[in-house]
Order: sequence, then C-alpha cells, then structure tokens
Amino acid sequence: MQNFDYCTPTRLIFGKGVVSQLPEVMSRFGKKVLLTYGGGSIKKIGLYDKVKELLKDFEIYELSGIQPNPKYNPSVLDGVKICKDNDIDVILAVGGGSVLDCSKAIATGAKYDGDPWDLISYKAFAKESVPIVDIITLAATGSEFDPGGVISRTETNDKIGYIDKLNYPKVSFLDPTYTFSVSRKQTAAGCADAMNHIMEQYFCEDSTRLNDGFMESALKSLMGNTLLCLKNPEDYTARAEMMLCCTYGCNRIYSLGNSQSGWPCHAIEHALSAYYDITHGEGLAIITPRWMKHILCEKTVDRFVQYGINVFGIDDNQDSFDIANQAIDATYRFFEKSLNIPMHLKDVGIDESRINEMAHHIAVNEGLEEAWYPLYEDDLVSILTESL
Ligand code: NZQ
Ligand code: ZN
Repeated sequence: MQNFDYCTPTRLIFGKGVVSQLPEVMSRFGKKVLLTYGGGSIKKIGLYDKVKELLKDFEIYELSGIQPNPKYNPSVLDGVKICKDNDIDVILAVGGGSVLDCSKAIATGAKYDGDPWDLISYKAFAKESVPIVDIITLAATGSEFDPGGVISRTETNDKIGYIDKLNYPKVSFLDPTYTFSVSRKQTAAGCADAMNHIMEQYFCEDSTRLNDGFMESALKSLMGNTLLCLKNPEDYTARAEMMLCCTYGCNRIYSLGNSQSGWPCHAIEHALSAYYDITHGEGLAIITPRWMKHILCEKTVDRFVQYGINVFGIDDNQDSFDIANQAIDATYRFFEKSLNIPMHLKDVGIDESRINEMAHHIAVNEGLEEAWYPLYEDDLVSILTESL
C-alpha cells in the first residue's frame, strides 16, 4: 500500500429539503454573494426562486449562462470581474459540475492580481480564494467533494483540469430531488463519467482488497441505480444512491493507498471535448472500452479478470484473456444498450481529420507516458482511430 496524506475539508449536507439550511450556512461567510448558474435548468425546477427567497437578506450578484465544458472567456473572466468589483464574500454555485468548476476558477482568480489563466495553467499559485458553497443538481462529476475544476479555453483547444486545495467547496448541499429533472442523456452521461472515475482508480498496479471491494460495489450500484433512474426519474432512493457514488468519484476516497493510474481516459476525453465541445460522459463511454482493448496484455489481464468476475459476474472457469475480453464487451454493451449512449466518435460529430492533432496535444500535455500502461502518441492515434 502506498503512503498518502488525505484531508477533505468539504461539509456535505445530504437529503430531502436540506437547502432550507442555506441562510444559516451562508451567513458564516458574509453578506455579499455571487450566485452562479448555467442556462436555466435551475429556474425550470424552481430552485432559483427558492434560493432567492432563502437569501432575501443577502446582497446577491449573479453570473448566469455558464455552459457545459465551462469557458474561460467569458464565464471565468466575467465572474472574476464581478467578485473584484463588488468585493464578494462567498460564491454560491447552483447547477451541475460545469457551474461548480467555473466557480472554482473564479474563486482563486478573484484573489489574484494577474491573469487568472496563470493559475489554471499552473504558472502561478493562488494564496487565497473566495469560499464556495454549492447546491449540486446533477450527479456526475463529484466536483462537489473535490478541489478540481475543468476549464476550456476555446482559442487554444485547451481543456485543463485545474486542481487547488483552496477550491474544495466549504459546504455542498446534496438534495437528490433536484436531480429528478435531469434528462435521460445527462443521467446516462453522468453514470458513464462516474463509472470512469472509479475505473481510473481501479485499473492500476497496486490496490487493496478494501479499495477493490469499495469500487466494485460502487460500480454495481451506479449501474443498477442508473437503470432505475432512467426507468423512473423520480425514484428518490435510486437518485440518492447514484448521487453518492458520483460525489465520492474524484475525491480519492475510493482509492486511498493505491498507486496512480494516470487517468488516461480523462486525458483523452478532455481533448475531445476541448476540440469538439462534446458531452464529457459520452466521450468517456466511447473511449473507455477502446482504451481497455488497447492495453489488454499479460501485464494488465489479471485486473480485467477481477473486474469481469466481480462487477459483471462472468464465469471464472475460463481462460484469463477470454474473461477479460468478455468484461470489456460487457462494459461496451452496458454503455450502448442499457444507457443508450452513442458509441462512436462519428455519432458525436468527430471524424478522422484532427485525430493526429489531438493525439499530439494529449501526448505533449497529459504526461501519459507515466500511466499504469504508458501511452505514447502512436497509442493515442490508435485508440482514437478505433473509437471512430
Ligand atoms: O446549464 P443548465 O441549464 O443548468 O443545464 C445543464 C446542462 O445543460 C443540465 N442540468 C444540470 N442540472 C440539471 C440539468 N438539467 C435538468 N435538471 C437538472 N437538475 O445538464 C447539462 C450538463 O451540465 P454540466 O454541468 O455540464 O454537466 P456535468 O455535471 O456532467 O459537468 C460536466 C463538466 O465537468 C467536468 C467535465 O469535463 C465537464 O466540463 N468534470 C469535472 C470534474 C471535477 N470537477 O472533478 C471531474 C470530471 O471528470 C469532469 O472532467
Ligand atoms: Zn469525469
């Protein structure tokens, strides 16, 4: 088992109706609030009005229109300006992972004198940040329990995972009823994203029985509960369990003591959504089984065997490579048949024209030579081509 140093300072407040505690929680941070949200889903579900009513004694400024794959310009830059001009005390992010990720970049950018991109690109490091509280409305990224935010800069085709411990949310409100309205497409994409967060930690050199059991159980829970959510979007218990599996996703709790995998599927997908602005979870569903096939070899096969037997219940009385291949096929089938996710890059508007360019971008920027199964530019071209 590897050494680790772990601390999650985020308070989770979970359950039906917990948002009523918002005024008390927010008052600890100050009166001037920047309320951030996306394209309007929080208005449709009545959450915007509810928040405004609960915070009627606060001074509210707003940043709306934060898009999926949140953009540096305008969203991050606009939010930083609002915070600086108005001396904002606390950011309240209400929405999915994109809203929260954007708010994290705003939080440190607002306390930094230079160009906020210096922080996102790790040219400089923040010394302080504006505290963040969030109400998460989509089960997927786990941003509500981690210090990461993924920001896109359109003109350079960059999509950077920006991690700074200052950006752990102070408090995250998780009320599964706010996820009842999430569309079938986003529910499925959220499941694929969260499954991949677990796989990125599961497929590594050194793991423990404790972590393996935790992750295998979470994968089964995610798959089973997502199917229930798709059947009945207002199934509270299923939405609730799905939400928690997602919340734990990127916080490292699933894999304390494991060696690093390098998060290869995320590195590849971030290039896809940077170049083509596709839905993150769909990109991952397409890439994951192709990556699995690509790396299957003597070194990796036992891990796939364990995954196949413990997650998909594949008969263990077979040749290792047969079991591993069946496990990979079962993963593909779950995404395609059960979640109804488009499983080819061409289905989401990506053709072969920029594959070499994307592979080069990933190879130069993502450090995948250090991954559990090292990936070089040629490997990336193969995986992307296989995914067409
Ligand atoms: O913009 P609005 O109108 O709010 O609609 C959103 C958006 O169109 C909608 N939505 C959200 N909650 C809803 C809802 N629709 C109906 N009812 C609700 N309750 O869903 C759409 C997608 O929202 P988005 O926030 O983009 O989705 P998600 O939470 O999947 O976030 C994706 C982003 O997170 C990044 C991804 O790369 C991507 O940019 N990631 C962040 C991570 C992190 N911080 O730890 C890790 C992940 O691996 C991921 O990379
Ligand atoms: Zn993800």
